[in-house]
Amino acid sequence: MSSPPADPCVLVIFGASGDLARRKLLPAIYNLAESGLLPERCAILGVARPAISEDAYRTQVRESVEREEGGPLDAAMWQRISDRLHYIAGELDDQGLYDRLMTELDQVRRRHGIPSNYLFYLAVPPQLFATAGRRLAAAGLADERDGWRRIVVEKPFGYDLESARRLNAELTGGLRETQIYRIDHYLGKETVQNILAFRFANGIFEPIWNRRYVDHVQMQVAEDEGIGNRGAYYDRAGALRDIVQNHMFQLLSLVCMEPPVSFKAEAVRDEKVKVLNAVTPLADADVRRDAVRAQYAGYRQEPHVAAGSRTDTYVALRLMLDNWRWAGVPFYLRTGKRLARRSTEVSVHFKPAPFTLFRETPVECTNPNVLLLRIQPEEGISLAFDAKVPGPLERLETVTMDFSYAAHFHLEPSTGYETLLFDAMAGDQTLFHRMDIVEAGWQIVEPILDAWARDTGSPLPVHEPGSWGPAEADWLLEREGRRWRS
Ligand code: BG6
Repeated sequence: MSSPPADPCVLVIFGASGDLARRKLLPAIYNLAESGLLPERCAILGVARPAISEDAYRTQVRESVEREEGGPLDAAMWQRISDRLHYIAGELDDQGLYDRLMTELDQVRRRHGIPSNYLFYLAVPPQLFATAGRRLAAAGLADERDGWRRIVVEKPFGYDLESARRLNAELTGGLRETQIYRIDHYLGKETVQNILAFRFANGIFEPIWNRRYVDHVQMQVAEDEGIGNRGAYYDRAGALRDIVQNHMFQLLSLVCMEPPVSFKAEAVRDEKVKVLNAVTPLADADVRRDAVRAQYAGYRQEPHVAAGSRTDTYVALRLMLDNWRWAGVPFYLRTGKRLARRSTEVSVHFKPAPFTLFRETPVECTNPNVLLLRIQPEEGISLAFDAKVPGPLERLETVTMDFSYAAHFHLEPSTGYETLLFDAMAGDQTLFHRMDIVEAGWQIVEPILDAWARDTGSPLPVHEPGSWGPAEADWLLEREGRRWRS
């Protein structure tokens, strides 16, 4: 949040011809250049398997960025990127690649007058993270004697607690924690970052942001699309690992954390991890009661999905936080593919006002206030409250006060990766996961994963594509007299 300007550096993208690089990272670099935030002295070196020429790579990148930007690029801006774009082909598990990389990096940085600051972005399948980290270190490319060296590791960071620890041990064998940037692209979203600004830059919300005033909180990451071509990855992961353990737990920590002493990376991360550590672990019986998994109908027919797969494409959870601020307040989380619409939001449901005054009026009930943080799409914030319907009769209707990012800030489209790339170049780790945060996330989901892995017999709920999920998830709230916001 208080990043210094980004340092001159060479950004090395491993997996440079893959989906993530073409659809997100390279457009993000273009957007950074457009907003004047790309350091004047910088270069991009793509590394991937296809043996293509540098010119062919430039053409590919141009086409991808145009597709994502939705039209032709500004000629001067593209020229600036293109002049700085380089490419080498190779296999990530071949040590020879790293020796060539060493030579190439030296040439590239000299040509552009850049000190030897290198940012390595691992936009590759997770099974290659450890190999790349180890080989970079073995080639001396993690040595910071003549400039900084940082490595950005994509999610998922591990498959469970043990494998996350193993991966971390591999990476920290050759790199220090300050060199490792574990990315979660949700933290690059403006609306996610705004949660802290909303809570702590405004005086009126903090006093009511606790168990005295909040009845419960709902969080949802709903997607209307299915898993597409990602079956090979997704069928091993499932919604709990893919979305809850990282993106949703980040939302949870931002909504629930105490004010940090400053916006410095460690201060913010210290408070975030405390939230995750306060989540009451679910025992076996709790998993049966408070965790719902389901699949969308047709999931097992998707490419690369096992015929009898029991992988969760939908998850709903009821979590409690055992701390002073939130004791007794349920947090209901749900996420799924092929749901009714794409919508990520957090809604804070406040306790209702006493009904006393309205008893002798036609009003049947008052409606609790709901503060809605719309993360995406239709980014914004709204507050629902009851108002008197004009007329002689005493009648109430719920109305909203609304803030829309698009209407107010006229936001340019962004991928969410701009801020994260910029911060990594500036050496600001605030928006990246520290290892204890990753571990705390795994610790919460692991009992659920274990209980589900053991339960191979009970039927898995299936929901219709385009619905809001299985009835079992509605029951999670209904048994406590509540309902999902829809
Ligand atoms: C990714 C998940 O991390 O986030 C995907 O692997 C998911 O399964 C995606 O679709 C959602 O990201 P966004 O930014 O579209 O909400």
